[in-house]
Amino acid sequence: MPEYDLAIRGGFVATGFGAALCDIGVKDGRIAAIAEKITEAAHVIAADGLYVLPGGVDSHCHIEEPSRGGYTMSDGEPQVTVNEESFVTASTSAFAGGTTSVVCFVPQWKGFGVWDRYQDYRQRAATGMLDHAFHQIISDPTDAVLNEEVPRLVTEGVRSLKVFLTYEPLHLSDAEFIKVLLTARKLGCLVTVHCENYDAIGWRTQALLAAGLTEPKYHAWSRPRVVEREATHRAIALAELVDQPIQVFHVSCEEAAEEIARAQARGLKVWGETCPQYVSLTAADMDRPGFEGAKFMCSPAPRDTAEHARIWEMIRRGTLNVVSSDHCGFSYGGDKGKAVAGRDASFEKIPNGIPGLAARLPIVFSEGVAKGRIGLEDFVKLTAANPARIMGLYPRKGVILPGSDADIVLWDPAKKVKLTNALMQHAIDYTPYEGMEVTGWPVSTIRRGEVVMRDGKVQAQPGTGRYLPRAPYDLVKPRGITPDGFVPR
Ligand code: URP
Ligand code: ZN
Ligand code: ZN
Repeated sequence: MPEYDLAIRGGFVATGFGAALCDIGVKDGRIAAIAEKITEAAHVIAADGLYVLPGGVDSHCHIEEPSRGGYTMSDGEPQVTVNEESFVTASTSAFAGGTTSVVCFVPQWKGFGVWDRYQDYRQRAATGMLDHAFHQIISDPTDAVLNEEVPRLVTEGVRSLKVFLTYEPLHLSDAEFIKVLLTARKLGCLVTVHCENYDAIGWRTQALLAAGLTEPKYHAWSRPRVVEREATHRAIALAELVDQPIQVFHVSCEEAAEEIARAQARGLKVWGETCPQYVSLTAADMDRPGFEGAKFMCSPAPRDTAEHARIWEMIRRGTLNVVSSDHCGFSYGGDKGKAVAGRDASFEKIPNGIPGLAARLPIVFSEGVAKGRIGLEDFVKLTAANPARIMGLYPRKGVILPGSDADIVLWDPAKKVKLTNALMQHAIDYTPYEGMEVTGWPVSTIRRGEVVMRDGKVQAQPGTGRYLPRAPYDLVKPRGITPDGFVPR
């Protein structure tokens, strides 16, 4: 009987903790050995000329998320919309792009609790093939939700809460945000934050509409950098006040990243995430004819190419240490997605969010490693090891270490590919990255020792994705430092 179920031989292995030319032995779905030579294996994959990397961990994905009103600034009729992506199609897309684990969002609708939504969402996620953990969105932080339901979720292994400081149906006031921070502190959860100023965006939006400026491109005008910087500053200040670790989601500009850098320099537990769209798309993309600009509409809005360079600098400095997709699958055609309010709708009625699960690793590798902006090990940290650590999934996910799940992607660093929607393998009818040329491509994805994608062909049984309950972890412990030493109960 061979010692290993699978050996991956001859590749250049970047573990998340260093890189070397070596072999990997897999047993029972986990990494069992990393050695110069592994010979005793039932199956062998030759990885000569390839990089062998941890499967991507995408810690910010909106998948099959039933929402009332979507992500908009419109106060129209609430409606339950599920974006087109299902857990099965998202899993296919993720595997096609080299990602094996996701953290996605259990919604909360204003006026409702979270426990029922959590149970519904667990069932939805169990239909897919991706290993998955959950953030719980808090949009209505009642005492019952914070004191009774969220503690129940924590015993189920939910260890991150998500709050929005903008969007019409979801945004929290400062007082509500503080309540969520206190709850997270008490329960040992991370708080992740969408940082944009709701009132400022609302004011700009009304002014733009009054001036007749309604096309998709005015989405960017409604939310200039300063609204992101202000909310980032405020989120960090309130988190400092409560002594609660936070991760700032989808940082789009240097101004906001500088707030994070200052906090980090002062020793605060504040982390910053950015996304491929903030190093590849621009506000000019939303200025395409007719409704087409809606394809690029996300929040914060994409900026410009000079900002891309500044984001890379913030990545290089470590201020931004995670690159997630913020995958959000609203189709362009049909009447459920971007056009839910009609193709003539003004910008504030168009759902925000773009798909990116499959494109994430190729874009970060191509723009980052292939263009010499970051090294291979930085790439692994940004896309796998750091998200796993920050989300409490490490060392099970995000690294190639003995005992870790054998989630591995074999990567051809030289392959040149022109991105098309078909290559994304999602259920969405477009990709905002259509036509982008990338260097570097996943040739095989392995989830827990099973080859789930080879040469673009995804083969995985629906229903095999596992829930990843998260135990308490040190990274999200408060520092024990509050202003004047006073710790409110
Ligand atoms: O525009 C975006 N980012 N949509 C997804 C929801 C969110 O804000 O994360
Ligand atoms: Zn957001
Ligand atoms: Zn998001």
